[in-house]
Amino acid sequence: MVDDKTKRFSVYLPEKVKSDLEQMAYETGLSMTQLIVMATHGLLSNYKSNGGNIFADLVNSRQKNLFSETLKTLRSENSVMQEYYGARAFEYEKVYHREDPEYQQELSLLTTILKTVVKDRNVLEVACGTGYWTQVVSEVAHHIVGLDIRPEVIQIAHDKGLPRTKVDFIVGDAYNLGQLENDFDFGLANFWFSHIPKNKIEDFLTGFHNKLQPGAKVFMADNVYVEGRGGELITKDNSEDTYKIRELADGSKYEILKNYYTYNELFEFFEPITEELKIFCGKSFWYVHYTVKSLN
Ligand SMILES: C[S@@+](CC[C@H](N)C(=O)[O-])C[C@H]1O[C@@H](n2cnc3c(N)ncnc32)[C@H](O)[C@@H]1O
Repeated sequence: MVDDKTKRFSVYLPEKVKSDLEQMAYETGLSMTQLIVMATHGLLSNYKSNGGNIFADLVNSRQKNLFSETLKTLRSENSVMQEYYGARAFEYEKVYHREDPEYQQELSLLTTILKTVVKDRNVLEVACGTGYWTQVVSEVAHHIVGLDIRPEVIQIAHDKGLPRTKVDFIVGDAYNLGQLENDFDFGLANFWFSHIPKNKIEDFLTGFHNKLQPGAKVFMADNVYVEGRGGELITKDNSEDTYKIRELADGSKYEILKNYYTYNELFEFFEPITEELKIFCGKSFWYVHYTVKSLN
Protein backbone atom coordinates (compact mmCIF):
# COMPACT_ATOMS: atom_id res chain seq x y z
CA MET A 1 0.00 0.00 0.00
CA VAL A 2 1.41 3.37 -0.96
CA ASP A 3 -0.44 5.61 1.44
CA ASP A 4 -2.94 4.94 4.20
CA LYS A 5 -5.40 7.74 4.82
CA THR A 6 -7.98 5.41 6.33
CA LYS A 7 -10.44 7.23 8.55
CA ARG A 8 -13.81 5.95 7.41
CA PHE A 9 -14.34 2.54 5.92
CA SER A 10 -17.23 1.94 3.56
CA VAL A 11 -18.28 -1.54 2.51
CA TYR A 12 -20.63 -2.86 -0.12
CA LEU A 13 -23.17 -5.37 1.21
CA PRO A 14 -25.30 -7.53 -1.08
CA GLU A 15 -29.06 -6.72 -0.87
CA LYS A 16 -29.92 -9.96 0.94
CA VAL A 17 -27.24 -9.39 3.64
CA LYS A 18 -28.45 -5.79 4.02
CA SER A 19 -32.06 -6.80 4.54
CA ASP A 20 -31.09 -9.56 7.03
CA LEU A 21 -29.02 -6.98 8.92
CA GLU A 22 -31.91 -4.51 8.92
CA GLN A 23 -34.16 -7.20 10.36
CA MET A 24 -31.60 -8.01 13.07
CA ALA A 25 -31.25 -4.31 13.92
CA TYR A 26 -35.04 -4.04 14.20
CA GLU A 27 -35.28 -7.11 16.42
CA THR A 28 -32.35 -6.24 18.73
CA GLY A 29 -32.80 -2.47 18.93
CA LEU A 30 -29.12 -2.04 17.92
CA SER A 31 -28.12 0.06 14.92
CA MET A 32 -26.73 -1.60 11.78
CA THR A 33 -23.40 0.12 12.42
CA GLN A 34 -23.24 -1.30 15.95
CA LEU A 35 -23.98 -4.77 14.59
CA ILE A 36 -21.25 -4.46 11.94
CA VAL A 37 -18.72 -3.24 14.52
CA MET A 38 -19.61 -6.14 16.85
CA ALA A 39 -19.34 -8.64 13.99
CA THR A 40 -15.92 -7.24 13.04
CA HIS A 41 -14.66 -7.54 16.62
CA GLY A 42 -15.90 -11.14 16.65
CA LEU A 43 -14.16 -11.90 13.36
CA LEU A 44 -10.87 -10.35 14.50
CA SER A 45 -10.80 -12.22 17.79
CA ASN A 46 -11.69 -15.49 16.01
CA TYR A 47 -8.89 -14.83 13.50
CA LYS A 48 -6.44 -14.05 16.36
CA SER A 49 -7.19 -17.39 18.06
CA ASN A 50 -7.56 -19.63 14.99
CA GLY A 51 -5.73 -17.88 12.13
CA GLY A 52 -6.73 -18.21 8.47
CA ASN A 53 -8.24 -21.66 9.08
CA ILE A 54 -11.48 -19.92 10.04
CA PHE A 55 -12.07 -19.52 6.31
CA ALA A 56 -11.62 -23.23 5.69
CA ASP A 57 -15.38 -23.89 5.69
CA LEU A 58 -15.53 -21.97 2.45
CA VAL A 59 -13.88 -24.87 0.70
CA ASN A 60 -14.78 -28.53 0.53
CA SER A 61 -12.61 -31.12 2.25
CA ARG A 62 -10.87 -32.27 -0.94
CA GLN A 63 -9.48 -28.79 -1.31
CA LYS A 64 -8.60 -27.88 2.27
CA ASN A 65 -4.92 -28.73 1.84
CA LEU A 66 -4.68 -26.51 -1.19
CA PHE A 67 -6.28 -23.80 0.91
CA SER A 68 -3.74 -23.94 3.74
CA GLU A 69 -0.84 -24.05 1.25
CA THR A 70 -2.29 -20.93 -0.34
CA LEU A 71 -2.49 -19.12 2.95
CA LYS A 72 1.23 -19.76 3.41
CA THR A 73 1.87 -18.30 -0.04
CA LEU A 74 -0.28 -15.31 0.85
CA ARG A 75 1.66 -14.62 4.04
CA SER A 76 5.07 -15.08 2.48
CA GLU A 77 4.44 -13.13 -0.75
CA ASN A 78 2.22 -10.42 0.68
CA SER A 79 2.02 -9.05 -2.83
CA VAL A 80 0.56 -5.59 -3.23
CA MET A 81 -1.76 -6.71 -6.02
CA GLN A 82 -3.28 -9.46 -3.89
CA GLU A 83 -3.56 -7.13 -0.92
CA TYR A 84 -5.30 -4.58 -3.13
CA TYR A 85 -7.92 -7.05 -4.38
CA GLY A 86 -8.51 -8.23 -0.82
CA ALA A 87 -9.12 -4.65 0.32
CA ARG A 88 -11.17 -3.87 -2.78
CA ALA A 89 -13.39 -6.94 -2.46
CA PHE A 90 -16.58 -5.09 -1.51
CA GLU A 91 -16.28 -2.38 -4.14
CA TYR A 92 -14.88 -4.50 -6.99
CA GLU A 93 -18.02 -5.00 -9.07
CA LYS A 94 -18.62 -1.25 -9.39
CA VAL A 95 -16.20 -1.53 -12.30
CA TYR A 96 -18.91 -3.29 -14.33
CA HIS A 97 -21.46 -0.50 -13.77
CA ARG A 98 -19.60 2.28 -15.58
CA GLU A 99 -22.15 4.68 -17.07
CA ASP A 100 -20.92 4.57 -20.63
CA PRO A 101 -23.21 3.05 -23.29
CA GLU A 102 -20.31 1.94 -25.51
CA TYR A 103 -18.62 0.24 -22.56
CA GLN A 104 -21.89 -1.47 -21.56
CA GLN A 105 -22.46 -2.59 -25.15
CA GLU A 106 -19.05 -4.28 -25.28
CA LEU A 107 -19.58 -5.81 -21.85
CA SER A 108 -22.81 -7.34 -23.02
CA LEU A 109 -21.08 -8.59 -26.18
CA LEU A 110 -18.46 -10.32 -23.98
CA THR A 111 -21.24 -11.82 -21.89
CA THR A 112 -23.12 -13.13 -24.91
CA ILE A 113 -20.04 -14.67 -26.54
CA LEU A 114 -18.89 -16.24 -23.28
CA LYS A 115 -22.31 -17.74 -22.60
CA THR A 116 -22.36 -19.24 -26.10
CA VAL A 117 -18.94 -20.87 -25.91
CA VAL A 118 -19.17 -22.12 -22.32
CA LYS A 119 -22.47 -23.95 -22.70
CA ASP A 120 -22.49 -27.40 -21.02
CA ARG A 121 -18.76 -27.20 -20.19
CA ASN A 122 -16.85 -28.19 -17.07
CA VAL A 123 -15.14 -24.92 -16.28
CA LEU A 124 -12.02 -24.01 -14.34
CA GLU A 125 -12.17 -20.28 -13.68
CA VAL A 126 -8.95 -18.81 -12.29
CA ALA A 127 -8.82 -15.47 -10.47
CA CYS A 128 -12.63 -15.55 -10.29
CA GLY A 129 -12.74 -12.63 -7.82
CA THR A 130 -16.21 -11.88 -6.49
CA GLY A 131 -17.77 -14.32 -8.95
CA TYR A 132 -19.17 -11.80 -11.43
CA TRP A 133 -18.32 -14.03 -14.42
CA THR A 134 -18.97 -17.22 -12.45
CA GLN A 135 -22.56 -16.09 -12.07
CA VAL A 136 -22.86 -15.38 -15.80
CA VAL A 137 -21.35 -18.74 -16.70
CA SER A 138 -23.40 -20.64 -14.11
CA GLU A 139 -26.52 -19.96 -16.20
CA VAL A 140 -25.30 -22.24 -18.99
CA ALA A 141 -22.22 -24.28 -17.98
CA HIS A 142 -22.38 -27.82 -16.61
CA HIS A 143 -20.10 -27.14 -13.62
CA ILE A 144 -17.65 -24.45 -12.52
CA VAL A 145 -14.77 -24.36 -10.08
CA GLY A 146 -13.94 -20.73 -9.31
CA LEU A 147 -10.52 -20.12 -7.76
CA ASP A 148 -9.00 -16.97 -6.32
CA ILE A 149 -6.14 -16.28 -3.95
CA ARG A 150 -8.08 -13.88 -1.71
CA PRO A 151 -10.50 -15.35 0.85
CA GLU A 152 -12.36 -12.01 1.00
CA VAL A 153 -13.45 -12.16 -2.65
CA ILE A 154 -14.24 -15.88 -2.44
CA GLN A 155 -16.50 -15.13 0.54
CA ILE A 156 -18.45 -12.59 -1.55
CA ALA A 157 -18.66 -15.01 -4.47
CA HIS A 158 -19.85 -17.72 -2.09
CA ASP A 159 -22.53 -15.42 -0.61
CA LYS A 160 -24.11 -15.00 -4.04
CA GLY A 161 -25.82 -18.32 -3.38
CA LEU A 162 -25.11 -19.83 -6.81
CA PRO A 163 -26.37 -23.43 -7.11
CA ARG A 164 -24.16 -25.68 -4.96
CA THR A 165 -24.53 -28.57 -7.38
CA LYS A 166 -23.04 -26.43 -10.14
CA VAL A 167 -20.50 -24.13 -8.53
CA ASP A 168 -17.57 -24.65 -6.15
CA PHE A 169 -15.40 -21.79 -4.97
CA ILE A 170 -11.91 -22.39 -3.65
CA VAL A 171 -9.05 -20.30 -2.37
CA GLY A 172 -6.01 -21.14 -4.47
CA ASP A 173 -3.08 -19.81 -6.44
CA ALA A 174 -3.35 -19.42 -10.22
CA TYR A 175 0.36 -20.25 -10.50
CA ASN A 176 0.04 -23.44 -8.48
CA LEU A 177 -2.99 -25.41 -9.66
CA GLY A 178 -1.26 -28.75 -9.01
CA GLN A 179 -3.75 -30.19 -6.53
CA LEU A 180 -6.86 -29.61 -8.63
CA GLU A 181 -8.47 -32.39 -10.66
CA ASN A 182 -7.70 -32.45 -14.40
CA ASP A 183 -11.28 -32.95 -15.57
CA PHE A 184 -12.01 -29.51 -17.00
CA ASP A 185 -12.85 -28.98 -20.65
CA PHE A 186 -12.97 -25.19 -20.42
CA GLY A 187 -10.59 -22.63 -18.91
CA LEU A 188 -11.78 -19.15 -18.03
CA ALA A 189 -9.67 -16.24 -16.79
CA ASN A 190 -11.25 -12.82 -17.08
CA PHE A 191 -9.39 -9.64 -16.17
CA TRP A 192 -6.45 -11.67 -14.90
CA PHE A 193 -4.04 -11.75 -17.86
CA SER A 194 -3.20 -8.05 -17.47
CA HIS A 195 -1.99 -8.72 -13.91
CA ILE A 196 0.48 -11.45 -14.82
CA PRO A 197 4.09 -10.26 -14.87
CA LYS A 198 5.33 -10.83 -18.45
CA ASN A 199 8.03 -13.21 -17.26
CA LYS A 200 5.38 -15.42 -15.59
CA ILE A 201 2.89 -15.70 -18.48
CA GLU A 202 4.41 -18.87 -19.86
CA ASP A 203 4.46 -20.54 -16.43
CA PHE A 204 0.85 -19.56 -15.82
CA LEU A 205 -0.38 -20.82 -19.21
CA THR A 206 1.52 -24.09 -18.90
CA GLY A 207 0.01 -24.80 -15.48
CA PHE A 208 -3.46 -23.65 -16.62
CA HIS A 209 -3.47 -25.71 -19.82
CA ASN A 210 -2.18 -28.75 -17.91
CA LYS A 211 -5.39 -28.73 -15.87
CA LEU A 212 -7.52 -28.92 -19.03
CA GLN A 213 -8.40 -32.01 -21.05
CA PRO A 214 -7.09 -32.41 -24.61
CA GLY A 215 -9.14 -30.26 -26.98
CA ALA A 216 -10.37 -27.99 -24.16
CA LYS A 217 -11.35 -24.42 -24.94
CA VAL A 218 -10.10 -21.27 -23.21
CA PHE A 219 -11.66 -17.83 -22.94
CA MET A 220 -9.81 -14.84 -21.49
CA ALA A 221 -10.93 -11.23 -21.55
CA ASP A 222 -9.29 -8.08 -20.29
CA ASN A 223 -9.03 -4.32 -20.65
CA VAL A 224 -7.83 -2.43 -23.69
CA TYR A 225 -5.69 0.61 -22.87
CA VAL A 226 -7.78 3.80 -22.83
CA GLU A 227 -5.81 6.94 -22.12
CA GLY A 228 -6.88 8.62 -18.90
CA ARG A 229 -9.13 5.75 -17.77
CA GLY A 230 -8.08 4.29 -14.41
CA GLY A 231 -5.18 6.70 -13.92
CA GLU A 232 -1.81 7.21 -15.53
CA LEU A 233 0.19 4.24 -16.81
CA ILE A 234 3.52 3.92 -15.01
CA THR A 235 6.62 2.51 -16.71
CA LYS A 236 9.86 1.68 -14.93
CA ASP A 237 13.38 1.56 -16.37
CA ASN A 238 14.10 -1.85 -14.89
CA SER A 239 10.76 -3.52 -15.71
CA GLU A 240 9.05 -4.81 -18.86
CA ASP A 241 5.73 -4.52 -17.00
CA THR A 242 3.59 -1.43 -16.53
CA TYR A 243 1.76 -0.30 -13.41
CA LYS A 244 -1.16 1.82 -12.25
CA ILE A 245 -2.00 3.53 -9.00
CA ARG A 246 -5.42 2.46 -7.76
CA GLU A 247 -7.30 4.30 -5.03
CA LEU A 248 -10.04 2.74 -2.93
CA ALA A 249 -13.10 4.50 -1.50
CA ASP A 250 -11.33 4.83 1.88
CA GLY A 251 -8.49 6.78 0.23
CA SER A 252 -5.86 4.04 0.45
CA LYS A 253 -3.61 3.76 -2.61
CA TYR A 254 -1.94 0.77 -4.21
CA GLU A 255 0.49 0.47 -7.09
CA ILE A 256 -0.54 -2.61 -9.06
CA LEU A 257 0.91 -4.34 -12.07
CA LYS A 258 -1.32 -3.82 -15.12
CA ASN A 259 -0.19 -4.71 -18.64
CA TYR A 260 -2.13 -3.80 -21.79
CA TYR A 261 -1.94 -5.60 -25.12
CA THR A 262 -2.78 -4.69 -28.71
CA TYR A 263 -4.37 -7.09 -31.21
CA ASN A 264 -0.96 -7.78 -32.81
CA GLU A 265 0.70 -8.48 -29.49
CA LEU A 266 -2.07 -10.91 -28.54
CA PHE A 267 -1.84 -12.59 -31.95
CA GLU A 268 1.95 -12.98 -31.77
CA PHE A 269 1.69 -14.39 -28.29
CA PHE A 270 -1.22 -16.83 -28.62
CA GLU A 271 -1.02 -17.92 -32.27
CA PRO A 272 1.98 -20.28 -31.88
CA ILE A 273 0.64 -22.02 -28.77
CA THR A 274 -3.06 -22.43 -29.61
CA GLU A 275 -5.47 -23.73 -32.25
CA GLU A 276 -8.64 -22.13 -33.66
CA LEU A 277 -7.63 -18.80 -32.18
CA LYS A 278 -10.17 -15.97 -32.21
CA ILE A 279 -9.21 -12.50 -31.01
CA PHE A 280 -11.47 -9.53 -30.49
CA CYS A 281 -10.14 -6.09 -29.60
CA GLY A 282 -12.77 -3.46 -28.95
CA LYS A 283 -12.65 0.02 -27.43
CA SER A 284 -12.76 -1.19 -23.82
CA PHE A 285 -12.10 -4.93 -23.86
CA TRP A 286 -10.26 -7.65 -25.70
CA TYR A 287 -10.89 -11.35 -25.58
CA VAL A 288 -9.16 -14.45 -26.85
CA HIS A 289 -10.93 -17.75 -27.41
CA TYR A 290 -8.94 -20.79 -28.49
CA THR A 291 -8.46 -24.54 -28.32
CA VAL A 292 -5.53 -25.73 -26.24
CA LYS A 293 -2.90 -27.10 -28.64
CA SER A 294 -2.35 -30.83 -28.28
CA LEU A 295 1.23 -31.78 -27.45
CA ASN A 296 1.72 -34.33 -30.30
C1 LIG B 1 -9.12 -7.87 -11.79
S1 LIG B 1 -9.61 -9.08 -10.63
C2 LIG B 1 -10.62 -10.11 -11.68
C3 LIG B 1 -11.72 -10.82 -10.95
C4 LIG B 1 -12.73 -11.55 -11.85
N1 LIG B 1 -12.10 -12.49 -12.72
C5 LIG B 1 -13.52 -10.57 -12.66
O1 LIG B 1 -13.27 -10.47 -13.87
O2 LIG B 1 -14.43 -9.91 -12.14
C6 LIG B 1 -8.14 -10.03 -10.42
C7 LIG B 1 -8.28 -11.15 -9.40
O3 LIG B 1 -7.06 -11.89 -9.36
C8 LIG B 1 -6.90 -12.39 -8.04
N2 LIG B 1 -5.52 -12.87 -7.87
C9 LIG B 1 -4.40 -12.15 -7.69
N3 LIG B 1 -3.32 -12.97 -7.62
C10 LIG B 1 -3.80 -14.24 -7.75
C11 LIG B 1 -3.19 -15.53 -7.77
N4 LIG B 1 -1.86 -15.66 -7.65
N5 LIG B 1 -3.97 -16.60 -7.90
C12 LIG B 1 -5.32 -16.49 -8.03
N6 LIG B 1 -5.96 -15.30 -8.02
C13 LIG B 1 -5.20 -14.19 -7.90
C14 LIG B 1 -7.29 -11.20 -7.19
O4 LIG B 1 -7.58 -11.58 -5.87
C15 LIG B 1 -8.51 -10.67 -7.96
O5 LIG B 1 -9.71 -11.22 -7.47
